[in-house]
Amino acid sequence: KRAQEASDYEQMERAAKFFTHQLRHHQNSSQVIDYLKGRGISGETVKQFQIGYAPDGWDGLLKALGTDQRSRQQLIDLKLINRNDQGRHYDFFRDRLMFPIRDRRGRVVGFGGRILQGDGPKYLNSPETRIFHKGRELYGLYEARQAYRELPQVVIVEGYMDVVALAQAGINFAVASLGTATTTEQLQLLFRATRQVTCCYDGDRAGRDAAWRALENALPLLHDGIELKFLFLPEGEDPDSLVRKEGADGFLQRLAQAQSFTDYFFSHLTDTIDIQSDAGKSLLLKQAKPLLERVASDFYRQTLMERLARLLRREVSQLSTLIQGVATTKL
Ligand code: CTP
Ligand code: MN
Ligand code: MN
Ligand code: MN
Ligand code: MN
Repeated sequence: KRAQEASDYEQMERAAKFFTHQLRHHQNSSQVIDYLKGRGISGETVKQFQIGYAPDGWDGLLKALGTDQRSRQQLIDLKLINRNDQGRHYDFFRDRLMFPIRDRRGRVVGFGGRILQGDGPKYLNSPETRIFHKGRELYGLYEARQAYRELPQVVIVEGYMDVVALAQAGINFAVASLGTATTTEQLQLLFRATRQVTCCYDGDRAGRDAAWRALENALPLLHDGIELKFLFLPEGEDPDSLVRKEGADGFLQRLAQAQSFTDYFFSHLTDTIDIQSDAGKSLLLKQAKPLLERVASDFYRQTLMERLARLLRREVSQLSTLIQGVATTKL
């Protein structure tokens, strides 16, 4: 099994090399490079992230790496090659900009591919394989760790291009959570790598929903000394578009003003509640309770309790009684 794993990583690395080679030598090369230039990405950044190109046509990778039955089967297992009903094999990624996803040790475990033209989903990700588990990897974490002896902070963003555009602007501590909500496992991974994490998702409904889900997932992981913040972007912007508009300084200024998780916690919960009324106060209590119970750190839980007590115009001691009451009467 070890041997197979080692061979899988080697094959993924060969695929990454194939894609970077195509980016320089394929007949479409100049269009793809123009696309990257159009997005403000320099050759240096392309190299840093080993961005590549999966050629159009059906069997570029297959022909290059699937030379015998065994390697063809391996490419199928690694989901780089598909097999259709007629038993024909073809490349999974075609005519796409390719982002290799590395695990914590720098091994390529999957790819993200962005469409360059035509229809189809904007991004395609490697499906789960025996070496790739989406919920456990963070795009850009390996690259960010390469840049620091100890990562001072991390910004979690949604997309590959957000990570790459921020790095291009000199902000080389962003990671992306691969098209899913940021999972508990990903947050765990991050809190082992740094003490300060800021969630900065797209300025749209999906991004705001993702932020709240990240907060919920993070509550059990918040240990003392760890800081979690939230940066909300103007409607329609993502980190890529914003850093290109406002520059690194603009982005860093926003980052410095990111909301603490306690501020966000209560601003979100009271968003649609009138806390002047008793009905509103009791609703806030009911909604906050199960969340408070998930907070691992006594200190953070206490901080949230004090804040909640102020909002409810109660003493913390009264609040404790109320919360136990909520528990026993199952409000
Ligand atoms: N994503 C995905 N599948 C999609 C769309 C998005 O997996 N069909 C994931 C990708 O990881 C992508 C991230 O979600 O990088 C962000 O998606 P989105 O915000 O829609 O990407 P855009 O910012 O619109 O992409 P771009 O800037 O490249 O136009
Ligand atoms: Mn989009
Ligand atoms: Mn989006
Ligand atoms: Mn986006
Ligand atoms: Mn974008």
